[in-house]
Amino acid sequence: MPRRVPRLTSQRVNQIASSGIRRFFDLVASMEGVISLGVGEPDFPTPWHIREAAIYSLEKGYTMYTSNLGIPELRRELSRYLKDSYNLDYDPDSELLITVGVSEGVDLATRAILDPGDEVIMADPCYVSYNSCVILAGGRPIMVPTNQKSNFELSAADIEARITDKTKAILIGYPANPTGAVMSRDKLAQIAEVARRHQLLVISDEIYARLVYGVEHTCFATLPRMKESTILLGGFSKAYAMTGWRIGYAAASKEVIAAMFKIHQYTIMCAPTMGQVAAIEALKSGDDSVAEMVEDYNRRRLVMVKGLNKIGLPCFEPKGAFYAFPSIKGTGMTSEEFAEKLLIEEKVAAVPGNAFGECGEGYVRCCYATSLADIEEALLRMGRFVKKYRK
Ligand SMILES: Cc1ncc(COP(=O)(O)O)c(C=O)c1O
Repeated sequence: MPRRVPRLTSQRVNQIASSGIRRFFDLVASMEGVISLGVGEPDFPTPWHIREAAIYSLEKGYTMYTSNLGIPELRRELSRYLKDSYNLDYDPDSELLITVGVSEGVDLATRAILDPGDEVIMADPCYVSYNSCVILAGGRPIMVPTNQKSNFELSAADIEARITDKTKAILIGYPANPTGAVMSRDKLAQIAEVARRHQLLVISDEIYARLVYGVEHTCFATLPRMKESTILLGGFSKAYAMTGWRIGYAAASKEVIAAMFKIHQYTIMCAPTMGQVAAIEALKSGDDSVAEMVEDYNRRRLVMVKGLNKIGLPCFEPKGAFYAFPSIKGTGMTSEEFAEKLLIEEKVAAVPGNAFGECGEGYVRCCYATSLADIEEALLRMGRFVKKYRK
């Protein structure tokens, strides 16, 4: 019998699609004169004092691997930061792990806790990596529809209605990408209560924790009796404008961190050394820079949201991150049609909402981490476009 030729790629990988965001931005990159409200990253370079600390470390020849867990000083600074910010105690040697961004954190968390068929409940729409990481870890994403009427918040009752014998965790991310939604402490406490009652873990992606406007961020691990069962993921990419440095962290119980660490040490070894040095400086003296950037984002947010509503793209007020998520339903187009036509006819790039899940259909994501002049010009072009196609 001839040997059966195996499939080139695994069934697990074949189940997931490439990120809709990247596909769209390959198209943007091939065009000139485009105003991009697309990729979700700060338009600021990393604050100079942070870059300088990293440059100095290179000058000193600090270019080797670090401890697999991350530089001890960084873990100590992080432990202090979490104590100062949230009054949470994490042991730097056993409850913190420095990761290659929150991206690695989501991957490690899902692989560390899931067995085949385990279910993870999350919001639809949500950040693009959540459901793919769950699938790659052998689990099943269970989506909870959210909508503009309820400000894209997850309801505890909707979560509870989807719990089965296979449910292992709830994966949340507030402030949210793509909607900019922030959930109040009270509503998060209701989710925590469901998690406790059903003994579920909660993976909480808090990468936008510091980017909130006029509201307070609630760290999920601070909710009553949630510290032990929360895998808190955070990072430096957004608040400190450090996307390219690739540094994030996980804070969780000893048992979970030990499991995540096993995967991390074999697949990653350690997060980039230079980035870790920069992160130490960010934690030690980056607060003023963060505050300045947040103030600037807030100005842009107000212009963007007011402008979108004015041109006929209804948009709820996002209280966090740096995204607006207007409805484009009034044009009768799908999200992809809208984004593609807008790009070709008016050279404005926004991400089709369906890249973030079925419930993102009928919306586009507009990132306002770009200059006010570009936001104003983009709104002008979008206004012209909407007028032409409004039904
Ligand atoms: C909600 C969310 N989580 C995680 C990430 C990935 O961040 P990092 O650069 O830390 O890997 C992003 C990036 O856009 C994000 O929006």
